[in-house]
Amino acid sequence: MPLKKVGELVIPSSLDHLSEVDHFAERMVKKLALPKEILDDVAISATEAVNNAILHGNKGNAGKKVTIRFYLCAQYLRLVVRDEGSGFAPESVPDPRQQQNLLKTSGRGLLIMRYLMDRVSFQRRRNGMSIIMDKFCPECHTVQSGGG
Ligand SMILES: Nc1ncnc2c1ncn2[C@@H]1O[C@H](COP(=O)(O)OP(=O)(O)OP(=O)(O)O)[C@@H](O)[C@H]1O
Ligand SMILES: [Mg+2]
Repeated sequence: MPLKKVGELVIPSSLDHLSEVDHFAERMVKKLALPKEILDDVAISATEAVNNAILHGNKGNAGKKVTIRFYLCAQYLRLVVRDEGSGFAPESVPDPRQQQNLLKTSGRGLLIMRYLMDRVSFQRRRNGMSIIMDKFCPECHTVQSGGG
């Protein structure tokens, strides 16, 4: 079964919109009748990614947008968060688990997303950066065939 877009939310770059993102993730999981166990993981990851997109990607420029999209196929739910920034090199981000970083109060978002989601990748384009996160979900198959 091919990957199908099932939902999209576009917000301006302001942290005031973070709760909207949380609600959107919740609505998507409910609407698709996906197992409740994945809801927290997906909602937290969406919030972390949008936080990064606003603060680091779009640098708080309210004129720039953040796009959150959900896709579904038989094996997984995909969450894509896209900003309009110039991107970054994920492999150069310091590992918060290293001794010299343990006492830092930030720098854990990417680690949390990698921990909560099953597959995380990045796509850097001229007009923005996307983080692509998949949550494997055995019941996605049922949702797809059940939903027609
Ligand atoms: N969308 C993005 N655009 C540009 N840089 C990014 C983006 N997402 C992450 N980064 C870079 O990766 C670093 C690590 O992100 P991460 O979310 O792990 O930590 P943080 O945002 O600095 O702190 P925390 O999420 O713990 O509050 C950021 O400090 C930033 O340099
Ligand atoms: Mg962060």
